[in-house]
Amino acid sequence: MTTQDTGPGGPVQGDGIFRTKSVEQSIRDTEEPEHTLRKSLSAWDLMVFGVGVIIGTGIFVLTGKVAKETAGPATALAFVAAGIVCALAALCYAEFASTVPVAGSAYTFSYASIGELPAWIIGWDLVLEFALGTAVVAVGWSGYVRSLLDNAGWHLPAALEGPDAVGGTFDLLAFLLVLLLTAVLVIGIKLSARLTAIVVAVKVAVVLIVIVAGLFFVKADNYQPFIPPAQKQEGGSGLNAPLVQLIFGYEPTNFGVMGIFTAASVVFFAFIGFDVVATAAEETRHPQRDMPRGILGSLLICTVLYVAVALVVTGMQHYTELSVSAPLADAFKAVGHPFYAGIISFGAAVGLTTVCMILLLGQTRVFFAMSRDGLLPRFFSKTHPHFGTPYRPTVLLGSIIAVVAGFTSINELATLVNIGTLFAFVVVALGVIVLRRTRPDLHRAFRTPWVPLLPIVSIAASIWLMLNLPAETWLRFVVWMVIGAAVYFLYGRSHSRLGRTRV
Ligand code: ALA
Repeated sequence: MTTQDTGPGGPVQGDGIFRTKSVEQSIRDTEEPEHTLRKSLSAWDLMVFGVGVIIGTGIFVLTGKVAKETAGPATALAFVAAGIVCALAALCYAEFASTVPVAGSAYTFSYASIGELPAWIIGWDLVLEFALGTAVVAVGWSGYVRSLLDNAGWHLPAALEGPDAVGGTFDLLAFLLVLLLTAVLVIGIKLSARLTAIVVAVKVAVVLIVIVAGLFFVKADNYQPFIPPAQKQEGGSGLNAPLVQLIFGYEPTNFGVMGIFTAASVVFFAFIGFDVVATAAEETRHPQRDMPRGILGSLLICTVLYVAVALVVTGMQHYTELSVSAPLADAFKAVGHPFYAGIISFGAAVGLTTVCMILLLGQTRVFFAMSRDGLLPRFFSKTHPHFGTPYRPTVLLGSIIAVVAGFTSINELATLVNIGTLFAFVVVALGVIVLRRTRPDLHRAFRTPWVPLLPIVSIAASIWLMLNLPAETWLRFVVWMVIGAAVYFLYGRSHSRLGRTRV
């Protein structure tokens, strides 16, 4: 190995499981013709892309459940808390995405800054986030579509309504949706972006209808009490209590001030997606300028909308009476306006389609990047000769997710997705600090302010939300990561392209 190989611009730095791939090498890899994605996205596309994936099951479904069971009207505060955690992380993501403009999001960033094993861990973790996120949203979509079909007098056989329904086993609609979206993604990102733009417009319009029309039905009485007093949690094994309550020996409770944080750790799901924007860096025409705009812009729009929706919905109906399956539509039914309810259900069903599609896209891009680096079989990183898309991982993962969506219940998966994403935030914030030290020379189109203070606060905030997730979610997460470590040591470590460069 020459000194050039290991210098600041050479492909490899460091050794063993902490070897890092240089930022220059990451960018060079994207220029190999067979492994190249088409650069076609603008800042506007990214923002549409962001809003397209961010607004989804979180606001349309989880708001009602969280308000009813965990936080009452203070759910709006939970959205603020989760939004702050995401904004801190977004400032770190924006620096990374504008410095390392290649596919793979937190995976690529950590490969360039912390090392190969941490990068593998984060990639593995992102696969969990995106795959399960896709499945969760597909199941939520299926619920709204079934409710629309029911309005029209059509009913699916109970067995095909999914595991959440009484007597259901397989969710046929969720399964079919994932397969259809897989086909769309194989055909190409441009088609997906165009489709996304139309659907995003419908979705945002519906959210605005909820806010504006709903405002007329808000009653001040419904905000009493705004933060309901803490209540002891009934039943359960204790494992479903937030880890922080178990660690500090509190009696597990719902509501109260702690309930706001428990709620924040769940509605956090509603913000997932701005990090997916970063996975499209490689397909962006001017990543240095457009990435930060795309990420921060879409996050800001969504936070404002969420807080408004939460305030309106808990003002329309007392939190104890909110519905948990279609709270936004049902609040309008409760005030005697089924027409609005129908429009909202339709918009939700349409809107959730893009969320599902973009999560699926993010998922295949992480897999693609890991395979291009040799940590997963290289077979998966050949792009389609005509469409220029990573069609192999798209088809493989799309099929697996379709089956998972068919057989999966929503609730437990959403919290697992959250813990995975928060963990990714921690690694990215850590990466910003490390990369500033190891590569101060790199051009950063966007610089995170107050480094290292802001990334440290971001890490602490993300860990705090993680601690507010149930103990059983932690257990599942640890199991998933242990399996990932095994795959790395049995396959990735010896097949890594970076490892081979050194021999
Ligand atoms: N943020 C997305 C949703 O709420 C994943 O569905």
